[in-house]
Amino acid sequence: MTAEYKVHGDVAVITMNNPPVNGLGLATRVALTQGLEKANADGSVKAIVITGAGKAFSGGADIKEFGTPKAVAEPNLLSVILAMENSSKPVVAAIHSVAMGGGLELSLGCHYRIAAPGANIALPEVKLGLIPGAGGTQRLPRVLGVETALNMIVSGEPVKSELLAQQPGQKLFDKMASSAQALQEEALAFARSVADTRPLPLVRNLPCKHPQGDAYFQFARNMVKGMAKNFPAPVKCVDAVEFATRKKFDEGMTLEREIFTNLMFTPESRALRHIFMAERAASKIPDVPEDTPQREIKAVAVIGAGTMGGGISMNFLNAGIPVTILEMKQEALDRGISTIRKNYEAQIKKGKLKQDKYEQRMSLLKTTLDYQDLAQADLVIEAVFEEMGVKQKVFETLDGVMKKGAILASNTSTLDVNKIAAFTKRPQDVVGMHFFSPANVMKLLEVVRGGKTAKDVLATVMQLAKKIKKTAVVSGVCDGFIGNRMIEQYSRQAGFLLDEGATPQQVDKAIEKFGFAMGPFRMGDLAGNDIGWAIRKRRATERADMKYSRTADKLCELGRFGQKTGAGWYDYQAGKRDAIPSKLVEDMIAAHRKELGIEPRKISDEEIVQRLVYALVNEGAHILEEGIASRASDIDMVYLTGYGFPIHRGGPMLYADQVGLFNVMQAMKRFQQNPRDDAKFWEPAPLIKRLVAEGKTFNG
Ligand code: NAI
Repeated sequence: MTAEYKVHGDVAVITMNNPPVNGLGLATRVALTQGLEKANADGSVKAIVITGAGKAFSGGADIKEFGTPKAVAEPNLLSVILAMENSSKPVVAAIHSVAMGGGLELSLGCHYRIAAPGANIALPEVKLGLIPGAGGTQRLPRVLGVETALNMIVSGEPVKSELLAQQPGQKLFDKMASSAQALQEEALAFARSVADTRPLPLVRNLPCKHPQGDAYFQFARNMVKGMAKNFPAPVKCVDAVEFATRKKFDEGMTLEREIFTNLMFTPESRALRHIFMAERAASKIPDVPEDTPQREIKAVAVIGAGTMGGGISMNFLNAGIPVTILEMKQEALDRGISTIRKNYEAQIKKGKLKQDKYEQRMSLLKTTLDYQDLAQADLVIEAVFEEMGVKQKVFETLDGVMKKGAILASNTSTLDVNKIAAFTKRPQDVVGMHFFSPANVMKLLEVVRGGKTAKDVLATVMQLAKKIKKTAVVSGVCDGFIGNRMIEQYSRQAGFLLDEGATPQQVDKAIEKFGFAMGPFRMGDLAGNDIGWAIRKRRATERADMKYSRTADKLCELGRFGQKTGAGWYDYQAGKRDAIPSKLVEDMIAAHRKELGIEPRKISDEEIVQRLVYALVNEGAHILEEGIASRASDIDMVYLTGYGFPIHRGGPMLYADQVGLFNVMQAMKRFQQNPRDDAKFWEPAPLIKRLVAEGKTFNG
């Protein structure tokens, strides 16, 4: 049973009890209807209170049942709500903490609602690409007025119960409890006070009108269209609420249901639901139990105050964890600290940070040139130059000074974490923590698991990631880990496309239209083209068989490193970031084609998008097969949070599933026929072949 039934004198109390948030799974729905029947059959019961145990009234649908037959099995939520409405005895919802989605809809089916202050009230379905599907769009406007209800439904954001209770004319809450503690008692008293009231009030019978309906809905639709670019659900929220004002209640309910069901099958909703689950899955490591004991992280040390070291430090300062930064020279420390200050001051200017908070954060920051000052830190993150020799010295020194049990992490983006661990006598304490630039902004943290990394180290770092508000994804050790290993294939394709006839602006535009925040060439100019150049030079001997376009090297040979040198793939005007197509680059690419004897051809945007995205997919499939990533959805999280992959497409692996792996494989085979491309790379990964043969997808 996931609801308890108890009679207090002449009032029956049904308490949903399905931790953590009393999700309305099948067992809870059954228990609710059984409780109702029991109370209605019991002659001594005069009224019924429905409430939730623990941390919520109800958070809505049970995510464990998402996509399973149980989610829609009878009694479904609509039937439960109907049973409440039809109860011959008054049903009172006693709301506290959280009433969201189906939880709020359930309460709207009750005859009365009493709420504790501080409760979060929301219809967040739009965040999953849906609209409320159990009457939320029809009932909420009837109790809160069209405008407030529509704002809540379109944004999905929670509003505090006491704020809603202050709305003039609101009928959402019949009474506010004096406190959360007093809710139960006051709900019982309220239930008794309405025990004999007949007829029982129903939200469905309330009028629903907007005085300037036509103008208002037109305005709302235009606003929402502009904001919701790639997503259909927000505009559908407007439609559904408009139906509430124009149609009879039951007709409105049918239309709501129709919209809900149609949205369920849109790729955008599929993507959002996938991300919702993927986020939760990523924090779980298959062979590291959730109750693995963790190490306490009370103080952090960072080695290197450069681009990454400063940003990394800010994450911990923001979370109230003291940081000590070590550098080789005082000047480097001073430079690093002044960058941190500038970043915070920019936030103050924008009104995003208060002066006292800023000072509080800076007071947690210490600097040093002496390793002894780090000895007591619980975690040290190395962010020095990307050279194995330099990292070796740092880790040997750390091994000598750090206290027993300290976690030693490297922010390396390409080097072998196992080799780094072997520089110490405690490889079990070594882990990769790969932040993305700017490290104080980007959500992604790749946690690189070495061959010997201890489970409690992993558990600790995953938990810590949550504390500093990062999305952590575990990667095994390989060159580039998950994200950069895949992006290399994407960049290679971008280069081939130039050789074959495309311009940087055509490639960028095509992939930006697909939804990427920035195309590969604008991105290169922003990050600095010299970074990739240095990596290619380093790898020239290790990966001599890897075919790639020489255009990027030629660009760097001209000193065009990107925005920082005022020129890259594009030209830039002083102090501006607008990318202006460059004649010089065009000529350089044309000359290069001539050298190679290539006759340029017209390349479609479709081909550009397919080659860039399927390059990610094929490499992703190899990564999955090798066990570098534990699940396809982890790869999607890396791309969504670290590389600007369009949210509405749900990440490269889900996108491939939605296109159909058979189609993706056919395209790869087509690309293999292109003599200018890399036929070996386009051999579909064995995992793709297997999934196609078995009629399966990456994401099950
Ligand atoms: P950076 O050159 O901006 O900063 C490195 C800092 O380390 C410099 O301030 C330098 O003085 C200091 N340093 C060098 N050797 C040291 C030593 N032995 N002891 C103490 N301090 C020392 O480099 P950046 O970009 O911050 O990169 C640092 C690490 O982060 C590298 O491993 C890099 O691959 C990685 N990384 C860089 C990203 C980026 O976008 N820049 C992204 C993710 C990782």
